Parts: sequence; structure tokens; C-alpha cells
Amino acid sequence: MAIFKKKSRPDESIDMKRLPHHIAIIMDGNGRWAEQRHLPRTAGHQQGVEAIREIVKTASEMNIEMMTLYAFSTENWKRPENEVQFLMNLLVDYLRKEIEELNRQKVCISTIGDLSRFHGTVRDEIEMAIAKTASNNGLKMNIALNYGGRNELTRVIKQLMKEAVEGQVQTESISEDDIRSRLDTAAMPDPDLLIRTSGEQRISNFLLWQLAYTELYFTDTLWPDFRGEHFKEAIKDYQNRKRRFGGLT
Ligand code: IPE
Ligand code: IPE
Ligand code: MG
Repeated sequence: MAIFKKKSRPDESIDMKRLPHHIAIIMDGNGRWAEQRHLPRTAGHQQGVEAIREIVKTASEMNIEMMTLYAFSTENWKRPENEVQFLMNLLVDYLRKEIEELNRQKVCISTIGDLSRFHGTVRDEIEMAIAKTASNNGLKMNIALNYGGRNELTRVIKQLMKEAVEGQVQTESISEDDIRSRLDTAAMPDPDLLIRTSGEQRISNFLLWQLAYTELYFTDTLWPDFRGEHFKEAIKDYQNRKRRFGGLT
């Protein structure tokens, strides 16, 4: 009897009935993309926006329900001020220029992370984008801004302690669901698939609670080079995984 091993082939098509519901992406490698071309790191971030445009469009066309994009971590403030400022301006610029197209694609924008650190135009533009796309019923595009998994869990613990002191929750009866429902992602399903570009194989403080049973996919492709075909390759790989959630198949 021949042993049949199912492996992803380039011509193998995606099973549209078994798509991941929620795909999280660590968009990494912008700086290295620029360095390879002897350009300033900011040129890599600029090109990274093109990749976002293409992947959002591809995901929309495939009827993917939700994507969470890691755009700025709680640790990214450590970078030089001019790079941080450039990233903030790029975000504002993207939201302004893209909102019409996102509306046309029926994309609904949300955010996770501590937005209290954003002020002025940045904060206004984020809130405007959320409001303007709120009634869209297409792809849910969730942007992680000043997001850190540890920061999120710390905020949940603070909240629960406060409620315990005020007598609204009983410490002994705190459940996983009490934690889940206080996360920034309370209303969102856990990611089925996590993609990280640029060859790094780490989580970098992204969605620490939510990734417990997520399938992880790492690719050497740098984010500014990431195209629809790479995205589809990741989904094909996902479709060849066997998810067990600790049980038996
Ligand atoms: C990801 O690219 C973008 C952000 C973290 C905002 P990087 O800027 O981390 O690129 P590398 O990792 O230095 O190449
Ligand atoms: C993770 O990438 C954060 C984002 C993509 C926004 P980093 O480049 O900041 O992560 P490390 O420093 O390589 O772990
Ligand atoms: Mg990086």
C-alpha cells in the first residue's frame, strides 16, 4: 500500500470552504527591505503600505472575515523619534487616502491596543476611520496600535482587581471567560492563522492570550515584498495543518 502524504503543491488550489476566519499578521522587515536598497528605513515603511493595500484587497476578495495587523507595538516607541514620527504620519496618511477605497470594499476598521497614548491628528484620524467604516459588513480590518500582549493583560488584571475591590466580581469565581471578555479583542474570535514575515520566528508581544491555539506561519519574505500570492501560499499551508486543540483527531 502506498503511503500518501498530503503536501502543498504550487498548483493546489485553496479550499474556499475551509478558509481561516481570522488571520493575524506581524508585518515585519520594512527596515531590512530599505537597507538592502541603501535607502532610509522610512522608505521600507512607505513600501510596506503598498503591501497592506494589496493584502487587504486580496483578503476582501477572498471573503476572509477578519484580519489583525500589527502596525505599532508598545515597544516600538524605543525607536528613534524621527522613525516613530514617520510611522504616525504614515498611519494618518494611509487612513485619509484609503478610506474611500476601504468603504468601497466594505472594510470595517477597528483597533486594539492602548490608544490613550495617541493625541491630536493621529487620534482623530483613527476615530474617524472607525466611525466612517462602522456600518460596513465586509472584511474586518483590526489594526494593532500601541499594542502589546503584556500591556493588554496588565490592563485586564487592573480592571478585574478594581471590580473585585468594588464587589462586582468574586475573586474565587474568576473564569477564563471573565479574562477573555475584558481583552481588547473581547468581541473577536481568536486568530486561526498567524503570519510573520521577514524570517524572524517570534511573537514579539503580539496577542499572547489569543494565539494559544493559532497555527503559526513564518516566511522569509520581507513585508514590503509580500503579495497576494504569498498570502495565498500561507493559507494553503494552513489548510494542510491538523488542528487538535489538545484533543484527538
Ligand atoms: C516592521 O518593520 C514595521 C514596524 C515594526 C513598525 P521593521 O521596521 O521592524 O523592519 P526590520 O525588522 O527592522 O527590518
Ligand atoms: C513587531 O516587529 C512589531 C510590528 C510588526 C509592529 P518588531 O520589529 O518590532 O519586533 P522585534 O523587535 O524584531 O521583536
Ligand atoms: Mg522588525
